[in-house]
Parts: sequence; C-alpha cells; structure tokens
Amino acid sequence: MRVAALVIALMTMTAGIEGQVKKESFGKTPDGTAVDRYTLKSAAVEARIITFGGIVQSLKVPDKNGKSADVVLGFDSLQEYVDGNKPYFGAIIGRYGNRIAGGKFTLDGKTFTIPLNDGTNALHGGPRGFNQVVWRAKEVPHGIELTYVSPDGDQGFPGTLTTVVRYTLEGKDLRIEYSATTDRDTVLNLTNHSYFNLSGQGNGDILGDEVKINASRYTPVDQNLIPTGELAAVEGTPFDFRKPTPVGARINADDDQLKKGHGYDHNWVLDSAGKSSEAAEVYDPASGRVLQVFTDQPGLQFYTGNFLDGTITGKEGKVYGRRAALCLETQHFPDSPNHPKFPSTELRPGQKYHTVTTFRFSMR
Ligand code: BGC
Repeated sequence: MRVAALVIALMTMTAGIEGQVKKESFGKTPDGTAVDRYTLKSAAVEARIITFGGIVQSLKVPDKNGKSADVVLGFDSLQEYVDGNKPYFGAIIGRYGNRIAGGKFTLDGKTFTIPLNDGTNALHGGPRGFNQVVWRAKEVPHGIELTYVSPDGDQGFPGTLTTVVRYTLEGKDLRIEYSATTDRDTVLNLTNHSYFNLSGQGNGDILGDEVKINASRYTPVDQNLIPTGELAAVEGTPFDFRKPTPVGARINADDDQLKKGHGYDHNWVLDSAGKSSEAAEVYDPASGRVLQVFTDQPGLQFYTGNFLDGTITGKEGKVYGRRAALCLETQHFPDSPNHPKFPSTELRPGQKYHTVTTFRFSMR
C-alpha cells in the first residue's frame, strides 16, 4: 500500500513538472501592446517563449554532468528585442525566411514587391516581419499556440495569411509546428531563427562543435547570397558534413563559396527531400550536449554567426563575438519564388501549410 502511494505521488510530481506552463508579463511594445513570456518545462529542459516575435528567449539544457545552461543567444528585456534584434535571435521568421532577390517575385503573372532590408534583397519577410509582431497566445498541453493574422499586402505579400505556431516541450524535444492558410495565392517560408551555443550562450565560439548535416547537395550562392540555381554536390568540398566534422575545420579554407558567405551561410538540400527525418546533429565536446534537428522541410540554412561582431551585448551582459553561435534554419530554399525548379513555396486558398521541426537535446 505504502509503496503504491509513493509511486502515485512520484508520478504526480513528475507530471507536475512535465508539461508545466507558466505565464508572466514581459512588458509592453512602444505602441502599448502587452507582451507575455511563457515558461515551458519538462523534466530535462526549460524553454521560455515571448509573444513578441514568438521568440525563444531562453532554453536551459543540462550538460553531461547534469548542469543546466541557457544554450540560445538573446536579450533579457523586451526593449532590446524591439530595438536591437538585428540578428533575429530566436524569432519566428515569416512570411518568407531567407532572401528574395531584388525583393521581387511573380505569381500568377503578377509581380509583387517586398521592401529591401538586406542590400538588394528582401530578407526574412521584409523590414517588419513576423519577428517584429505580437502574437496571440493560448496554452495547450505541454506548450503554447501562437496565432498571427497578417493582412493582405503585408510587407507586399498577397493574401490574408493566418499563421499558427505551436511550441511544445516534451522530454528532450522542443517541437515547433507551423500551420497557415491564405485567402489569395501567396508564397510562404516559415522558420525559427534560434542561435545555439551548446557550451552556453556567451561562452566562446562554436568552431569546436561537431556538425553533421544529412545532405549530399547544397545551393551555391552569388555575391548577394542568392542561389545560382545549381544544386551542387558537397562531396570533396568544405560543405560536406555527412560525417560529423568540427565547424572550424574548414571554415577558413580557400573556397569561393565560403568567401561569399563569410563562412557558412548556405542552404543544404536535405537528402530526406521533404520527408520527416533527421536533418542535422551538433555535438559540443566541451559540455557533452547534443542537439538533433528533425524536419519535414527540404532545406536547412546552416549559418555560423559570421555577422556577429562583438557589438551586441546580450543576456547577462554577455558580448556576442564572431561565430558565438550557429543557426539551423529548417526551410525551403532561399529565393524559391524566383526559381521554378526549386520545391514550390506557393500556398493557395483551400490548402493548408503544415510543417514540423523538432530540436532534441541529449548528452554524450
Ligand atoms: C542569414 C544570414 C543573416 C542572418 C541574420 C540568416 O538566416 O542567412 O545571412 O545574417 O540570418 O539575419
């Protein structure tokens, strides 16, 4: 009897941690809109998400000795996210993750123009993308559901677009489920822009991390980081991560593509070709933390924080230097609306956009 009672008590306690969601205020935007922060907890991991930009504001994960650290870059205050989140730390990216050349594309014979915010490109949905808006939140089992209705013509994109992003945390898995519908033909490419440093945010660079990417090809770019259209083999190049390789092993190699990207800032063509499977794995030998990325998306932008330059001070006063983190942005290929041969990013009324990416944490 006593043992049974103890087992039940223990089970209830674990259930109390697993799936727990806590809400608190995270301030107000300059126009007075209230922003909340939600804390999601599993037995192993704690994730904090704010309703501004749907940003993963902190992500605490244990190392090989059971010691927890925050493994994503970001800020402590809303003000800093509103004013200074140029790198898109942790944010939901939309309507179009990555670049659209010249900010222009043609759909159904009509040309659409997105304001430029990256030289000659529109990047991550234009100057006021989904990273800059306040999402409506509701609690769901193990997490939260965020909704944003983007009006027809928002940042130049056609169609009223209703986007729902569900963050859930179960065990070692932070799962991000994206859904969307439109009332006019449009294009769409959603992702999450978390910057990971598995040694803990602000704790050195990621050059020692061993990365594996399950892709035999990637999309080479021009000097504006726009794909040339070619799907090039990674074989025999610094882009071959089919076997785990330290990020820093070849990043400074004499390679035209690495020079164009100032390091790795490219889209890999996943071998799984849109079927849900493991896209990438990162192992940090220093902490023993492992991150696996699972997705049903056809591409993965692997970005090594080349544009971080020590001018941003983030959480806990940590200065983010060059390559202080890496991003694994599951996505469709950059500039797809201008590349009819790339997998299509078109969404039409009556269709439902649906995609899932999971970040799984463990240690070795
Ligand atoms: C891009 C980088 C860019 C970063 C922050 C990444 O997705 O590929 O070139 O600097 O986002 O905007």
